[in-house]
Amino acid sequence: MTIMNVATTTTIERGYDNLPLPFGWFGVGMSNDFQPGDIKTLRYFGTEFVMWRGEDFQLRAVDPVCPHLGAHLGVNSTVEGNDLRCPFHHWSFNGEGQVTNIPYAKVIPPKLKKGCVKKWRVQESDNVVYVWYHPRDIEPLWDVVKLPPCQAGSEWVLSETHEWIVNIHIQEITENGQDHAHFAAVHGVPGAPSAEFKLDGYSRRNTVVAEMNTPRGPMQGKIDMAATGPGQSMTEFTDVTNVLMAQQLTAIDSGHTHQRWQLYHPAGISEGKMRVTKARMRDLVKQVVQDMPIWANKKNLTQPFLVDGDGPLMAYRSQYAKFYDTEPA
Ligand code: FES
Ligand SMILES: [Fe+2]
Repeated sequence: MTIMNVATTTTIERGYDNLPLPFGWFGVGMSNDFQPGDIKTLRYFGTEFVMWRGEDFQLRAVDPVCPHLGAHLGVNSTVEGNDLRCPFHHWSFNGEGQVTNIPYAKVIPPKLKKGCVKKWRVQESDNVVYVWYHPRDIEPLWDVVKLPPCQAGSEWVLSETHEWIVNIHIQEITENGQDHAHFAAVHGVPGAPSAEFKLDGYSRRNTVVAEMNTPRGPMQGKIDMAATGPGQSMTEFTDVTNVLMAQQLTAIDSGHTHQRWQLYHPAGISEGKMRVTKARMRDLVKQVVQDMPIWANKKNLTQPFLVDGDGPLMAYRSQYAKFYDTEPA
């Protein structure tokens, strides 16, 4: 799998440094990238954490610094049963960040037993690994969203996965979907799409009926996007094909975002349908790649000069503000 890194080529001050990061559930990898015994250091949210899969197949994650003498728990550590063992003096930690074993000490002090390393909440859903990030580490405010049901009682089949590192703040990537005028300019979609935009708590739903470039030429199609939180969305494209795009966006820091896609089609489609479905998927990938040079070089404008026909960008921004913690840390 290749990760495309779109470099910044301009030298203007872009205004993304030190912007706040939203809280939520964020994709940090695919489930099958973690076998039992695997340990990975993951760098997101301007920090890092260590994730491992235990013998019981559960994923767990904790902060990287061993409180004993400061070794990095992601370097030369090992998985012992379900616990993570520090390489330096072999202290073991469970997924709660509690010390479970010190091989040379007769007693484990209660403070260490209670938990001395920050734990990260981990969930796996539809082959994706998610962590909950919040600057004050409060409990999750919503659940990870599962794939919607597939039409006609069929199952979704995972057809392709893609990922990119994009030089842009996470908020701007989903803003792109509300930016109606760019569809014609950047993606060559004829005509402005008609849109229905609904906000509901931590979720946002967008139904767009648009003229789409399909493998059989331009035709009316429906794009039904449901996003929950800033990190997760499911978009169903229905035209001659039926494609579901599960997307995860995860802030690496305020200027860099990891974007992941899983593209699904219904089970049991004919060979002919498969050909047009694959062409549809190629077109989706082509479209996001068309956005990237603009994302990677644009400036953060808090007061853009919007005109009639631009789409509900400011409504999107005001809803997005919900995902920023306003309490002092
Ligand atoms: S530094 Fe980790 S066990 Fe000593
Ligand atoms: Fe776009």
